[in-house]
Amino acid sequence: MPTATIFLLVLFIGKLISCSEGAPRAFFVFGDSLVDNGNNNYLLTSARADSPPYGIDYPTHRPTGRFSNGFNIPDLISQELGAEATLPYLNPELNGDKLLVGANFASAGIGILNDTGIQFANIIRISTQLQNFEQYQARVSALIGEEQTERLVNGALVLITLGGNDYVNNYFFTPISARRLQYNLQDFSVYIISEYRKILMRLYDLGARRVLVTGSGPLGCVPSSLASRSVNGECAEEPQKASAIFNPLLVQMIQGLNQELGSDIFVAANAMEMQNDFIKDPQAFGFVTSKIACCGQGPYNGIGICTSSSNLCPNRDLYAFWDPFHPSERANKIIVQTLFTGSDKYMTPMNLSTIMAIDSL
Ligand SMILES: *[C@@H]1O[C@H](CO)[C@@H](O)[C@H](O)[C@H]1NC(C)=O
Ligand SMILES: *[C@@H]1O[C@H](CO)[C@@H](O)[C@H](O)[C@H]1NC(C)=O
Repeated sequence: MPTATIFLLVLFIGKLISCSEGAPRAFFVFGDSLVDNGNNNYLLTSARADSPPYGIDYPTHRPTGRFSNGFNIPDLISQELGAEATLPYLNPELNGDKLLVGANFASAGIGILNDTGIQFANIIRISTQLQNFEQYQARVSALIGEEQTERLVNGALVLITLGGNDYVNNYFFTPISARRLQYNLQDFSVYIISEYRKILMRLYDLGARRVLVTGSGPLGCVPSSLASRSVNGECAEEPQKASAIFNPLLVQMIQGLNQELGSDIFVAANAMEMQNDFIKDPQAFGFVTSKIACCGQGPYNGIGICTSSSNLCPNRDLYAFWDPFHPSERANKIIVQTLFTGSDKYMTPMNLSTIMAIDSL
């Protein structure tokens, strides 16, 4: 056999061994309420999903801090990876071998900007989430050594979800927010994208090598926007325009970043396109409605937040939105399916199943 063939064979066998003995790749999560799985329960903040009926369809049927009736997007990604769900970084049970699964650093209410979500008081802003990631790596190093830790982090899948709150809980939060006085919608979007880029570079510097970056959903179509900004049930124009500006800018920024780094480190998911599908034609996806939240009150169940005294639909699987802002577990399943198998309309430069196939070589 030629040397090159033998070399490849050895590589291949080595890989087989490392795969068979190896656990699933680690998974790290950063961002806001779409991906927080309970960190805010440890904080003094109003941005918490810690009371019923949150979690009503979770295996324990109890609230966990996830802004969902059941599993959220990171849970479903973990399942696809064949891994157990990551623990919130602030959970005291995140110790020893559990650290090797990864960790969830996300915190509901935060955004790209530090002045986003100030009304929620104590939340973990993105710069602190990244500091916690550094602290995490130091803890893992003490456990398995620096070199193995670097391998674990380099080999991990990372998810980061930011941006929605910079509009909902900042730019649009009050009729004349400071940011709105400072910027028009286009310029504000360009500004937050430039700040998002810095955050992603910092993640790269901290060792992340496969990072799924999700844009914002259709902000004008969530039940909250329908209740407060829509004239007759149409998606509200201005927040919808925000998503329509933000998502393509994000894709563009990711492409530039990958080009600069000379590698497909970052993968952009166009959350607006994904959710538009079931918002435009909910019946095609088995939903009875994409306008009315399952849990809430007022028009479209879109006023205020979901609490134990809210209206609650009997079958959560029939609703695209669980509460005034967040998709239901079943909508999350559709989103995660698209992350893994979606076409380039949704995923740039490629979907996660292609990534997983490349990374297993
Ligand atoms: C947010 O705050 C952190 C910590 O104080 C700081 O390092 C970062 O530059 C700030 N970001 C922006 C966009 O001002
Ligand atoms: C993922 O993306 C690739 C490349 O765009 C495409 O060919 C494939 O059909 C998509 N789905 C799956 C399951 O790989």
